[in-house]
Amino acid sequence: MTTATAQAHPNIALIKYWGKSDESMSLPATGSLSLTLDIFPTTTTVEVDEALTADAFELNGTVRDDDAARRVSTFLDLVRAQAGTGAHARVRSTNTVPTGAGLASSASGFAALAVAASAAYGLDLDEPGLSRLARRGSGSASRSIIPNVALWTEGDDASSYAREVPAPTIAMVVVTLDAGAKHVSSRVAMRRTIETSPFFPAWVTSTRVSLDEMVAACAAGDFTRIGELTEANALRMHATMQAAEPAIRYLSPASIALFDRVVALRAEGIEAYATADAGPNVAVICPPADAERVAAALRETTAAIPGLSAEVLVAGPGPGAHLVDPAGGAA
Ligand code: PMV
Repeated sequence: MTTATAQAHPNIALIKYWGKSDESMSLPATGSLSLTLDIFPTTTTVEVDEALTADAFELNGTVRDDDAARRVSTFLDLVRAQAGTGAHARVRSTNTVPTGAGLASSASGFAALAVAASAAYGLDLDEPGLSRLARRGSGSASRSIIPNVALWTEGDDASSYAREVPAPTIAMVVVTLDAGAKHVSSRVAMRRTIETSPFFPAWVTSTRVSLDEMVAACAAGDFTRIGELTEANALRMHATMQAAEPAIRYLSPASIALFDRVVALRAEGIEAYATADAGPNVAVICPPADAERVAAALRETTAAIPGLSAEVLVAGPGPGAHLVDPAGGAA
């Protein structure tokens, strides 16, 4: 019996991944760039046990026998194929990010699983190898292998992985508006966008251009340009999926109110820029020195909306996925 435990953090894309060029290999239609956060870690233990007749998956103390468990098992099949064994495993995961709420729980989840499972099954993978493996679980998980700012390039199975790129220190204020599971999974929504949104080709073309510009802005430490590109790319992604049939609309009135507040903050001279993933939650980037002021402003905005319960947290750049000892320390 071999056991390994790993921890990974969610990432939020500044240039988004929205659409696959190959679903079975989880290859993206375009590259993307994200910030790995230092909040909401997922910790996962994989115990390979020859005596098991099937994989067992437990999330936050609850045994799962559903789609989530099947995704874990399908992922372990990839690891087993590489390791040349048929042995099953017990997987125990603790997720502190609200699951399925558009806060990248699949990113931290599959990044932690990739690191723990590859160690438990005795695979010796380097960082690109781990990122490629995590990608097969969930595209965005390829980026949670990497600390700080990660660039995930488009390409084939061998070349599509994430790596760290130079960037200034970016703070992110994360506003959780709805910790419930999202209505349409990103997998289904991406497929529908590709099949029915007339804007999808323009999304691909413009995202490729923005990504090149974003990498350059990060290298130059140009926070203003990083922010402008971030907000424009997020709104373009949502516009593209809103043009699908039936439309996919993740942003709620509260999300829009937060985007408006961020525009107002800029008018007050604060470099804040908003983004949102496949859910109503909003994440705002700003220089670290302004993060508490931005958080206070966003709390004020959400508090003014009747019936809304929101959580506002300040995050900084986080570590890449790594092995830990089960007691919690670094391995
Ligand atoms: O890898 P998935 O299925 O969690 O897709 C992530 C999609 C977005 O979060 C909306 C964008 C991104 O690049 O993370």
